[in-house]
Amino acid sequence: MHDIEVGLKATTTTISFRPYVPAPGDIVVTDSNLAPRLSEHQPIIVPAGEKSKNLAEYAAVLDQLAQRGAKRKNRLVAIGGGVIGDLAGFAAATYMRGIPFVQVPTTLLSMVDSSVGGKVGVDTVQGKNLVGAFYPAHEVYIDATWLKTLDTRQWQCGMAEVLKYGFIMSEELAVSLENNPMLDVVDLRANEMIRTCIELKRQVVEADEFETTGYRAILNFGHTVGHAIERLTNYETYTHGEAISVGMVVETKIGEKLGITPTGLSTRLINTLSAHGLPVNSPTTAEVENIIQSMRGDKKSVQGELSMSLLTGLGKCKLTQDVDESVVREVLSEN
Ligand SMILES: NC(=O)c1ccc[n+]([C@@H]2O[C@H](COP(=O)([O-])OP(=O)(O)OC[C@H]3O[C@@H](n4cnc5c(N)ncnc54)[C@H](O)[C@@H]3O)[C@@H](O)[C@H]2O)c1
Ligand SMILES: [Zn+2]
Repeated sequence: MHDIEVGLKATTTTISFRPYVPAPGDIVVTDSNLAPRLSEHQPIIVPAGEKSKNLAEYAAVLDQLAQRGAKRKNRLVAIGGGVIGDLAGFAAATYMRGIPFVQVPTTLLSMVDSSVGGKVGVDTVQGKNLVGAFYPAHEVYIDATWLKTLDTRQWQCGMAEVLKYGFIMSEELAVSLENNPMLDVVDLRANEMIRTCIELKRQVVEADEFETTGYRAILNFGHTVGHAIERLTNYETYTHGEAISVGMVVETKIGEKLGITPTGLSTRLINTLSAHGLPVNSPTTAEVENIIQSMRGDKKSVQGELSMSLLTGLGKCKLTQDVDESVVREVLSEN
């Protein structure tokens, strides 16, 4: 008997730079901070914060959908940051085996990162984003006016991801932010910057949609160390952006020690991150072994090997497998 292959491709996402316009039958999901601004949509409301990205809130959204009589044709519209996008997206992916999904990202991080690329899901006690699916939004509406009410820390959190794109993929973006830091939303410039980041993410995601070739992992620059720091501090001390800011510095110093990253690039990175108010120093040297241990346990680590996306120049990087632990230890101990 011959094998049968059924070739399927995930949905195409249309990203529009304009406000979301409700359509009949849309069901909006948002968090408790944004809900007062969205009362005309009678949204499903999830308590604000990462702690809501769990199976219980996911089940609560499914219940609400059923209670409202949602059918296959209804669009589920996530209006909020990455927490709402990931949680509502997973509900949309699974409710009746999938209903149309629209994202209206309202944080800088969700505009440049989480609303594009199709990863949706929730955290469990065992790990962050441990349960989920690839379910790209059918439509994404980017409206930078949302960003005017973001607090400084949330803005900086998004800028860490923006700077990540610059340093790994776009010398032009990195240099422009190095020379002219973006400390809050300056309409036109922000729109242009967001568009650039989405374009860069699009290139990576299209090349490795389901993380099969490993190429998508270049986006994890700063995240191998950053995730370990977040886990060790119980996701409380650092925002995600702050943790990856520290992670990018550590990983760049590791790259320099390994002779992969040109010497001096860590200094440029540190100056640019600092100019954006982001932290650049590791927690404490006492944590070195815990950080290494936590990195080995990362769900993306293969058999405990440390792999990292390391800069090979400004705006260039490559995925490096099996990074020598002694070099990691050396760099972490220097801070
Ligand atoms: N799916 C992906 O590919 C992907 C990529 C990166 C991050 N993520 C996920 O995204 C999540 C983080 O996203 P986030 O940083 O947007 O967090 P978030 O959704 O918790 O939003 C941060 C805070 O900002 C508030 N907020 C949102 N929009 C606002 C606005 N316009 N004005 C004022 N306050 C506003 C929220 O209520 C919340 O308190 C994490 O769970 C992470 O795992 C997913
Ligand atoms: Zn990130």
